[in-house]
Amino acid sequence: MRVLVTGGAGFIGSHYTRRLLAGDSRSAAPSQVVVLDKLTYAGNALNLDSVRADPRLRLIVGDICDPVAVQQAMRGIDVVVHFAAESHVDRSITGSGEFVRTNVMGTHTLLHAALGAAVTRFVHVSTDEVYGSIENGSWPETHPLAPTSPYAASKAASDLLALAFHRTYGLPVCVTRGSNTYGPYQYPEKVIPLFVTNLLRGRKVPLYGDGGNRRDWLHVDDHCAGVRLVAQRGTPGEIYNIGGGTELSNRELTTRLLSATGADWSSVQPVADRMGHDRRYSVDTTKIREELGYAPAIPFPRGLAATVDWYRQNRQWWSPASDALSRA
Ligand SMILES: NC(=O)c1ccc[n+]([C@@H]2O[C@H](COP(=O)([O-])OP(=O)(O)OC[C@H]3O[C@@H](n4cnc5c(N)ncnc54)[C@H](O)[C@@H]3O)[C@@H](O)[C@H]2O)c1
Repeated sequence: MRVLVTGGAGFIGSHYTRRLLAGDSRSAAPSQVVVLDKLTYAGNALNLDSVRADPRLRLIVGDICDPVAVQQAMRGIDVVVHFAAESHVDRSITGSGEFVRTNVMGTHTLLHAALGAAVTRFVHVSTDEVYGSIENGSWPETHPLAPTSPYAASKAASDLLALAFHRTYGLPVCVTRGSNTYGPYQYPEKVIPLFVTNLLRGRKVPLYGDGGNRRDWLHVDDHCAGVRLVAQRGTPGEIYNIGGGTELSNRELTTRLLSATGADWSSVQPVADRMGHDRRYSVDTTKIREELGYAPAIPFPRGLAATVDWYRQNRQWWSPASDALSRA
């Protein structure tokens, strides 16, 4: 089986690629893994260092909006797992154009090429942010889409395009909607690596608004396990939520990060709330649990401790990005 992983040099995509090449006892190892990645500020070829020597891996540095690069990457591919995206909500608020280009146009370019290549599965990796905000309860996959940020709107648009390619042309598309993901190799602009790296440097961390916004936290390994199950056994045309099951307010998360890094509340700088900040996200994961046997395996305290430890041990990985962010 030959697999194309778009965005395979990013946070979740590189984890998926490393895991795919490592293999597991339940599925056949892929004969080839092609990574198509533009290596934007968020992509880093170093993320694939541990598998670089694997003869099955081929890294193509290219743009998912470029039909020539996409066609080259798609040649002979059986399964596409599409992670590539502009992924940071704050950047989408200050400049949404690139989000529409990559997330909508890029996804369309891939879907079109996948049809031509007659792939057996196209997993479109999306986010719970497409549902908007929920005060109580959890969203099932049938919940109407109500994205609020330009990031979430561009992801919602790409979900609909992907599903339309299934309904119209029969492309075997599945959509996954994962919750807030954390773990090693996450670019230090997202809240957990931003806070951890700032605290490890003795800097303050910016807490939005009253800190009461709530998110469901999902370890990257569990996110990838869910995507892998969908790639292997998901039903074409279906959407699968993937969650971690640990809901925390940003204030509660901050308390844990302060304690993990030996800092206190004097290191926290309250800042004005993010524009249009969704109050609460919560995914209902009944479908993927019951249909595909998904269960998150990494308890949040263990996952968080290991993540903080990874950032502690890998300063050379995050320092250049952290410096660039503080200069911006
Ligand atoms: N991080 C989360 O909490 C989270 C949660 C749910 C879903 N998701 C989704 O998972 C996917 C991966 O997220 P991530 O956090 O790993 O993102 P990331 O920003 O770390 O990585 C994105 C990758 O895509 C590449 N890329 C960007 N534009 C490209 C283009 N035009 N052509 C080719 N490659 C391009 C980047 O170079 C990078 O390697 C995204 O689709 C995101 O919407 C993320």
